[in-house]
Amino acid sequence: MSHNLNEKIALVTGGSRGLGKVISLTLAESGAMVIVNYANNQESAQETVDLIKSNAGKAITVKGDITDEDEVQRLISEAEEKTGGTIDILVNNATGPQPELSIEESTWQDYLNQLEYFVKAPLLLTKTILPGMKKKMEGRIINIGSEVVQLGNPNFGNYVTAKSSQIGMTRSWASELGPLGITVNLINPGFIPVERHGNVDPSSYKKNVPLQKMGEPIDIANAVAFLSSNEAKFITGQSISVNGGNTFGI
Ligand SMILES: NC(=O)c1ccc[n+]([C@@H]2O[C@H](COP(=O)([O-])OP(=O)(O)OC[C@H]3O[C@@H](n4cnc5c(N)ncnc54)[C@H](OP(=O)(O)O)[C@@H]3O)[C@@H](O)[C@H]2O)c1
Repeated sequence: MSHNLNEKIALVTGGSRGLGKVISLTLAESGAMVIVNYANNQESAQETVDLIKSNAGKAITVKGDITDEDEVQRLISEAEEKTGGTIDILVNNATGPQPELSIEESTWQDYLNQLEYFVKAPLLLTKTILPGMKKKMEGRIINIGSEVVQLGNPNFGNYVTAKSSQIGMTRSWASELGPLGITVNLINPGFIPVERHGNVDPSSYKKNVPLQKMGEPIDIANAVAFLSSNEAKFITGQSISVNGGNTFGI
C-alpha cells in the first residue's frame, strides 16, 4: 500500500545504500521529497536519487557525518535550503562499522563509537529539526533499531548496548514530544542481507524464523512508510519488530 506523503520532506540518514536506500525509494514513491544523506559514497547516494527521479519522485543528496555536531548543523541548513522547507520525517537509520568484539577485546571507545550513531546522532538531528516540527505541530521520528536487543547476541555488547538505548530514548522522546503532535517510534529489523553482507548464507538464521524466510529491505521500508503516514497518527513510543516473528516482546 502506498501512503500519501505528498508535501512531506523526509530525511533518511544513511539513505545511500542498504536499508536506507529502499526506505528512501519507498518514501519517495509515497510522494515525499527525500533527502538522501550519506557520509562518503557520493556515487551510491546519487544512484539512489537518480532511481527516485526516474520513478517521477523527488530527492536530493546531502553529504554529512551525522555523528559530528557542526556537520549536522550544516547538513540540516543545506537540506532546508535545497528543499525550501523544514523536515517532517526523520529516519535515524545510518550505521558505521559494527565490529564483533568479546568483552576482553572491547574498549570503552568501542561502546562510544556505537552510541555515537544510535544515540548522539539522533539527538543532534532531532534537536536541530525540532523548531520546524514544533511550528507545524506535527512530525515523525523513526529510529531504526535491531532485534539484537531481544536476542542479546554474544561478542556484540558494543552494538547491542547502543541499540538497547534506543528503546528508552524512543519512549522518553515520545512522551515529551507527543503534546506537540510529533510521534517517535522504533523499528527493529531482523537480519536483512544488504550489499555489505555480500554472499552470506542465511540458511541457519532462516530456520529459526517462524515465517521461515529472510526479510527484505522493502519490509522495513513499508513499516517506515506506514509510521510516517497519517494512518499511524495515533502510534507513538512503540518498538516494532519486523523480523518474521524471530523475537517477541519489547
Ligand atoms: N541490514 C540488517 O540486517 C540490519 C539488521 C538490524 C538492524 N539494522 C539497522 O538498520 C540500519 C541500516 O543498516 P544497513 O545494514 O542498511 O547499513 P549499511 O548498508 O551499512 O548502510 C549504512 C549507511 O550509513 C551511512 N553512513 C555511515 N556512516 C555515516 C555517518 N557518519 N554519517 C552519515 N551517514 C553514514 C552510509 O553512507 P556511506 O555509503 O557514504 O558510507 C550508508 O548509507 C542500521 O541502523 C542498522 O543497525 C540492519
